[in-house]
Parts: sequence; structure tokens; C-alpha cells
Amino acid sequence: KKVGVLVSGRGSNLQALLDACADPSFPAEIALVISNVPGVYALERAEKAGVPTLVIPHKGFPSREAFDAEMDKALRAAGIEIVCLAGFMRLLSPPFAEGWRGRMINIHPALLPSFKGLHTHARAIEAGVKLHGCTVHLVTPELDDGPILVQKAVPVLAQDDEDSLAARVLEQEHKAYPEALRLLAEGRVTVEGNRALIRDA
Ligand code: GRF
Repeated sequence: KKVGVLVSGRGSNLQALLDACADPSFPAEIALVISNVPGVYALERAEKAGVPTLVIPHKGFPSREAFDAEMDKALRAAGIEIVCLAGFMRLLSPPFAEGWRGRMINIHPALLPSFKGLHTHARAIEAGVKLHGCTVHLVTPELDDGPILVQKAVPVLAQDDEDSLAARVLEQEHKAYPEALRLLAEGRVTVEGNRALIRDA
């Protein structure tokens, strides 16, 4: 399956996906990386891996819908079948989310449905939870919502600060994202209501 990855920054999750896809037995290949921010490290990672990149600065568009339509055009022109959001820091318009429903996944640095939105690690520490983690889910028009494919949990330790907890979670993100992409690319996911049902390999 041909995968497009949307990024805005550092791209460590993109790297995890690139590394997974480098294995010829992996059921997906990354065919396009789009960033809404010029000059980010994620673009360098893609270039190093020989993957075509595109910068579409959202500031040049009159509306969210217009920006999303431009991304949509580029993804379809490249024959993309699955879209991965990897640190893509823009809200998606409903038409774009609907257009890719069931074929677009996101990674969120918390155990959803807890801690949607930003600053998840600080909020987890503040809330005093003893388990935290990450979630890969199918994207719906609602932010950080949609059927869950993979979750990984980590302990929250007494001495943790935001950075130490973020690092522990990030390590699990890099395992969770390729796992989830594999499930989707192998066609093992069906959606029933708000649940994703995963078929055994
Ligand atoms: C990750 O923590 C991801 O879960 C969140 O944004 C961060 C992106 O990091 N959505 P990177 O760009 O993949 O390194």
C-alpha cells in the first residue's frame, strides 16, 4: 500500500515508519511526505530515505478547507492509499477527514480517550495517573477521536517531569505506529460503531 505521511516538525515517528517500510516484507511503502512547515527536520529524514517531499505552507491559503483540498489533490495525484498523521499540528476540515475515513491514522501521545489535545504529558503528571502512553487511531472529524487500533502504556514514575515522561512514551510511539500501519495495510481492520475490530494475521 502506498502511504502518505503528514508532518510539521521533528519527524521521529516518520522515521519509525520509514524504518519499518525499509523491510521488503512490510506491507506498505511511504510514497510522499507533506509538511505544512518549511525547513523541518522531518523533510530531511524523508529526503535521506529517498522519499518525495512537498511543502504546503498553510499560511498561503484563505481557509482550512482550501489548504486541505490542496493536500488532498497532492495525495491523490501520488496514488496514496493510506495517510499517516505524524506530528501534524493542524486541525483537519470535515471534508478532508471524511474523504480519508478508514484510511487515515493519527498517533496521539496519551491513552485516549484521556488527555485529548496538547500538553498531554504535563496534564498526565498533574492528574496523578500512574499509567500513561500513546494511541494510534483512525481519524474522524473530531480531534483525537476515532476507533483505536493500538495502544501502549508506560508507568508514570514519582520523579518524572514532562520531558522524562515524554521520552518514555515516545519510545513506545515508535513501536505502536508501525504496528498500526501494518494492521491497516494488511486489511485486518474493520470498524463497528466506535470500535476497531482487528482480525488475526
Ligand atoms: C509525537 O509525540 C506525536 O505523538 C504527537 O506529536 C509528536 C510528534 O513527534 N502527535 P515527531 O515529529 O514524530 O518526532
